[in-house]
Amino acid sequence: MGKQTLGFNKAFVEIAKALNSNSNTGEKLHLLVKATARALGVRGCSLMLLDAQRKRFFHTASQGLSERYLRKGYLEAGKSLAELLNGKAMAILDVETDPRVQFKELALQEQISSIMSVPVETGGEMVGILRAYSRIQREFTAAEEQFLFTVANLAGAALESGRTNEEEHPTESGQEPSPRPAPLTSEIKPVSFAHPSEEEFARLLDFYQIEWVYEPRSFPLQFEGRATEMFTPDFYLPALDLYVEMTTMKPGLTREKNRKVRHLRELYPDVNIKLLARRDYDRLLAKYGHGPLAGAKTHGVGRVLFSDSQVQKRVSQLAKEISQDYEGRYPVLVGVLRGVFCFLADLMRYLTVPADVDFMAISYYRGGDGKAVRVTKDVDIDLAGRDVLLVEDIVDTGMTLSFVLNYLKSRKPASLQVCTLLDKRVRRLADVSLKYVGFEVPDEFLIGYGLDYEEEYRNLPFIALLKREKQVKKPKT
Ligand code: IMP
Ligand code: MG
Repeated sequence: MGKQTLGFNKAFVEIAKALNSNSNTGEKLHLLVKATARALGVRGCSLMLLDAQRKRFFHTASQGLSERYLRKGYLEAGKSLAELLNGKAMAILDVETDPRVQFKELALQEQISSIMSVPVETGGEMVGILRAYSRIQREFTAAEEQFLFTVANLAGAALESGRTNEEEHPTESGQEPSPRPAPLTSEIKPVSFAHPSEEEFARLLDFYQIEWVYEPRSFPLQFEGRATEMFTPDFYLPALDLYVEMTTMKPGLTREKNRKVRHLRELYPDVNIKLLARRDYDRLLAKYGHGPLAGAKTHGVGRVLFSDSQVQKRVSQLAKEISQDYEGRYPVLVGVLRGVFCFLADLMRYLTVPADVDFMAISYYRGGDGKAVRVTKDVDIDLAGRDVLLVEDIVDTGMTLSFVLNYLKSRKPASLQVCTLLDKRVRRLADVSLKYVGFEVPDEFLIGYGLDYEEEYRNLPFIALLKREKQVKKPKT
C-alpha cells in the first residue's frame, strides 16, 4: 500500500472513531477536518455550512486557518460554485488567477495557493462544502478527490445524526444549538429562529439596515483529545464584524452562556462578541415601545444622575474643547431631533467660534412593520466642504448614529465629528467613534434635559433615571 493510501486509511479510522463517540456534532466535525488535513498533507481543511438564510457558506469546523481568514472567508452561495451545486468537485489550481475565488486577498495573505472543494450532502441535498487548502500550487489526484468525497459523506452522516438526535438544539428544557445544516434551494426562505426575541432583534437590525447572518458558525471551545465543546453565536453582523449572543431564555442557561462567551473570548481574542442579556434586551425594546417593559402603567422620575448645574458645567467644558479644536473655522452643528434640542441650544451658546446650526430627524423602530430607517427631515444647509459636528443627546446601540453618519458622509463634508452628551457605552453594537462625550452613563433609561419617555419629561432641567412601576407577580395558587 502506498504511503498516501495508508494515510487515508488512518484518517478513516480516526473519523470513524469520532463519529462513533458520544461527542457532539461540532467535535466530530473538528476531528474530521483535522484528520483530513493531515492525511492530505495540506495547509488546512475546512467544513463550510450553509447559513440558515441559505445565502452564504460559513466555516463551521476548520484546521490550519487563521481566525482572520475564518471570519471573513464566507462564500456567497450560488456565486461561482456551479460545479459543487451539481455534486461535482471543484479544483482551484491557482488562487491568484482563478475568477471563482471570492476572497482572493485574504486567501493570498493566508498563503493559500490551491483549493480543492467537494459538496457535503445530507438526504441528497447540499448543505455544505468540504475544502482542502494547499500552500503550494498543486493539482489534487483522483485518489485525493475520492478521499475527500468519502470524507464529505462521513461529514454528511455526522450532520444528519446530529440533526435527528437534536442533541444540541435549543429547546425550552435548555439545550444548546448545533450547527444547523439547511437545504440549498434556489429561493431564499425565511430563517427559522429558535426564539421570538431573536426574530424581533433581526427585524430591528433590518430596520437599521444592518446586515446579519443567523447562527453563522460554531466555535470549538475545547480541542485535542478531551471532550470538545462548541459555541454557536446567534448572530453575526458582517459590517460591524460583531457576533451577538442573546440570552433570553432561562437564568441557568445565562450563566452557562456567560461562561462560554468568556471562554470564547479567551480562545479567540480577535473575535468581537457581545452578549445581550434578557434584561438588556427588554430595555432595548422598551426604548422603541415594545417588549415586556414597554407598557409601564405608572412611571416617574427616579434617581437624579446629573443635576442642572452638573449638566451646565459639563456642557460648557465640551464647548470650550470644541471652540479650541475649531479655532479659525466655521463649523456646522447638526442635531438629530428631538432629544438633542436642549443640549444643542446650550452647547451653541457656550461656543466661542461662530457656527451654523441645522437639524435632521429620522424615523425610529416601531416593531417589524417591514419599513427601514429613513430621514424624515433633512438638513437644509449644504454640507459639502463644511466642517460638520454631529450633535447627539445619547448614543446607545449606536445604530441611529451609524446610519446618520453614513448619510452625512454622502454629503461630502470637509470633516465629520461626533459630540454626544451621554454615552451608554455598555450597550454599544455599532462601534462609532465619538470625539466629544459629556458623560458615560449606565445601562438605564434616562429622562430629562430633552430626553423623553413616551414624550414626557423632556422639560426636566436635570438628567434622571426613569422609575417604572414594579411588575406585580401573581401569587401561585
Ligand atoms: P441608538 O440608535 O440605540 O444609539 O439610540 C439612540 C437614540 O435612542 C437616542 O438618540 C435617543 O433618542 C434614544 N435613547 C437611547 N437611550 C435613551 C434613554 O435612556 N432615554 C431616552 N432616549 C434614549
Ligand atoms: Mg437622538
